[in-house]
Amino acid sequence: MKALIDSFGRAQTYLRVSVTDRCNLRCHYCMPSQGVLCRSRSEILSFEEITRLVRVFAQLGISKVRLTGGEPLVRHDIERLVSDISAVPGIETVGMTTNGVLLERHASGLGRAGLKLLNVSLDSLRPQRFANITLKDEYHRVRRGIDAALSAGIRPIKLNTVVIRGVNDDELLDFVEMTRDNSISVRFIEFMPFKDNRWSVENYVSSQQMRQVISRKYRLIGPRKEATPGSVARQYSIEGHAGTVGFISPLSDHFCGSCIRLRLTSDGFLKTCLYSGALVDLRRVLRSRGTSDVKLTAAIVRAVDAKAYKHPPTAELAGNKNQNMVEIGG
Ligand code: GTP
Ligand code: 5AD
Ligand code: SF4
Repeated sequence: MKALIDSFGRAQTYLRVSVTDRCNLRCHYCMPSQGVLCRSRSEILSFEEITRLVRVFAQLGISKVRLTGGEPLVRHDIERLVSDISAVPGIETVGMTTNGVLLERHASGLGRAGLKLLNVSLDSLRPQRFANITLKDEYHRVRRGIDAALSAGIRPIKLNTVVIRGVNDDELLDFVEMTRDNSISVRFIEFMPFKDNRWSVENYVSSQQMRQVISRKYRLIGPRKEATPGSVARQYSIEGHAGTVGFISPLSDHFCGSCIRLRLTSDGFLKTCLYSGALVDLRRVLRSRGTSDVKLTAAIVRAVDAKAYKHPPTAELAGNKNQNMVEIGG
């Protein structure tokens, strides 16, 4: 088997697949207030196309796939895709990052389809504030979704909380408290700048500042040596707590040096870095008549060869013309 090793010696084994650019929430840090233009159905890859690409990626050493969006659960019959991808030889783990709104309905089906990892975005534990952040009154549905996933036996479950000063930075301790009785990992994420997402130095909170606040009440033990290679979070435990607390620090302590991630956008472009403007059009190769896996392989290998070592400095990112998070899928 060939391995996808970039020019800095990093073997790429993790593929994030965005299955849709649509979302049923409207988080301002993720999409611009004017909304984003959604792609037409024909532009979006079909499940068969995604599975074919995953097969090619798996032959090149990809072993973990995470489905993202937009919101992956708005895509009809997503369980079928989970099950098809889980059956691809070489794919060991299929995960999903969701906002949880539709999770209650899908949790047991996803578990049966073979979903192994579930990350749920949740930025506030206060229903009204949740509605202000997401522009939708869905807090209780998300909480029921998380409970349904726990009942369905999906493990591990991680909560992703993007911390924004003046928005939710007063809830850190409440989130940590959730880990006392629930075997979940709460991960606090530094707010990252994207096109038109109102990022500023003033509303950015570093992981170190978050840890200082938490340490006034809890003794954080760690960081733990990560079992998963290329993991972006630093994990801590707290004595007597069933769950753990993690910090994702893309800005204050970027993890680019050990990056093993590739991204496939919902319209079939390969992106080798979250912040890279360079996109390789795999859909064109995929849809050209009589195309072979050899051609797809060549296009993927070329893109990985050109993968950048790290993303540009924060100051540059804040003004950049990159896509929105909702288009990339995180
Ligand atoms: P695990 O499989 O649990 O390690 O999931 P994950 O942390 O890779 O995925 P998730 O979708 O939960 O992403 C968590 C946060 O990390 C989000 O804010 C992502 O945007 C951010 N993130 C994920 N990958 C990258 C990356 O390559 N670069 C940067 N800068 N941030 C990333
Ligand atoms: N900064 C940090 N994380 C973000 N996410 C979305 N937008 C941003 C941002 N600007 C997170 C979501 C989701 C994950 C895929 O990306 O909360 O959990
Ligand atoms: Fe939707 Fe997630 Fe973006 Fe919120 S952060 S708008 S839930 S994709």
